[in-house]
Amino acid sequence: MTKRVLVTGGAGFIGSNLVHYLVKERPDWKIVVCDLLTYAGNLENISALLDENKIDFVRCDIADASNVEDLFSNYEFDLVFHLAAESHVDRSILSAAPFMKTNVLGTEHLLSAAKSHAVQRFVHVSTDEVYGSLGETGRFVETTPLDPTSPYAASKAASDLVVQSYHKTHSLDAVITRCTNNYGPYQFPEKFIPLFISNVLEGKPLPLYGDGMQIRNWLHVIDHCRALLLIAEKGIAGEVYNIGGGEASEVPNKEVALKIIHTLSASEDLLQHVTDRLAHDRRYAIDHSKLENELGWSPTVTFDQGLADTISWYQKHAAWWEHIKSGSYREYYEQNYGNR
Ligand code: NAD
Ligand code: DAU
Repeated sequence: MTKRVLVTGGAGFIGSNLVHYLVKERPDWKIVVCDLLTYAGNLENISALLDENKIDFVRCDIADASNVEDLFSNYEFDLVFHLAAESHVDRSILSAAPFMKTNVLGTEHLLSAAKSHAVQRFVHVSTDEVYGSLGETGRFVETTPLDPTSPYAASKAASDLVVQSYHKTHSLDAVITRCTNNYGPYQFPEKFIPLFISNVLEGKPLPLYGDGMQIRNWLHVIDHCRALLLIAEKGIAGEVYNIGGGEASEVPNKEVALKIIHTLSASEDLLQHVTDRLAHDRRYAIDHSKLENELGWSPTVTFDQGLADTISWYQKHAAWWEHIKSGSYREYYEQNYGNR
């Protein structure tokens, strides 16, 4: 059935992958991307779909209530996938205000518009970082108490609570997804995997925070997109769904860095231990058995295969990331890494 679908943040990493996936899987849906095109948004990520008139694009700031109201009045959406956010932990440590504005206030504006325009389902794309950090054992389940550490994670936890309040107070049909670390094509090269791949390709050092033994639970972005569509269509209103890569993709950062170095036949001397991130979460691991048992989802891409494909993608798309790394990115890099 035709649906009018909004993807916020659809010019970013996960959003653009989701838009490509939806166009392929649900060709009769009318998809609209709304994105402010911050430093992280890039129309190149969806240019092929725009050129073929397969989607609409609206430049819109979700933190501006009138922008959001205009958007919802023009299209009358049935379904919203909300991904627009300030998404990088290190930037939230340098300056938290944009995170509160976009991630908390922006989410509220979207919920308010979804309520008044009778949107049928609101999929709020959140993160496992809202749960805080794990010790050596255990996994986050959906009922694990929220205990965010970084300003980024705090802003996402706050947005989750606002979503839940709209569901409880106004009966808005909303679901919350909490996913682990994604990797894959079109990821902005400030994040660990694309940063390390592109730095190796440029012959630059790889700044490994602290002892490098922090663990992340990697999931290929295409598996995240599969989960989001499934939850949008089959998830139960008001529920939270964890999404994760499973035990085999729980890998210490140093091991990921070495895999990248070895795949590219580079020298291990590129690895540089630098001052740790403030309040660096030690370990993330997600229990996604609710999604697996209730909706039949499980990851399909192994970490080794996904990482090899991703390295190859960044080798073939050097122009994409070289362009990004040549602009205001340099100032950020100096600010974040200059004194480490
Ligand atoms: P990203 O930074 O690559 O993309 C974010 C997009 O949001 C950009 O296109 C940006 O221009 C847009 N945006 C920012 N502020 C905006 C505003 N005020 N109005 C409209 N658009 C705005 O982020 P990502 O990694 O693709 O993450 C997408 C979502 O998924 C985020 O909500 C993030 O919290 C969540 N998430 C990410 C991961 C991950 O590993 N990357 C894991 C779990 C959840
Ligand atoms: O867990 C989901 C989250 O994953 C998402 O909600 C966030 O949007 C996303 O950015 C990501 O957060 P992380 O902080 O885990 O990702 P990041 O890529 O910044 O870092 C991954 C790990 O690598 C983390 O332990 C910090 C480390 N790291 C990162 C960078 C950028 C380094 O050692 N050196 C670096 O230069």
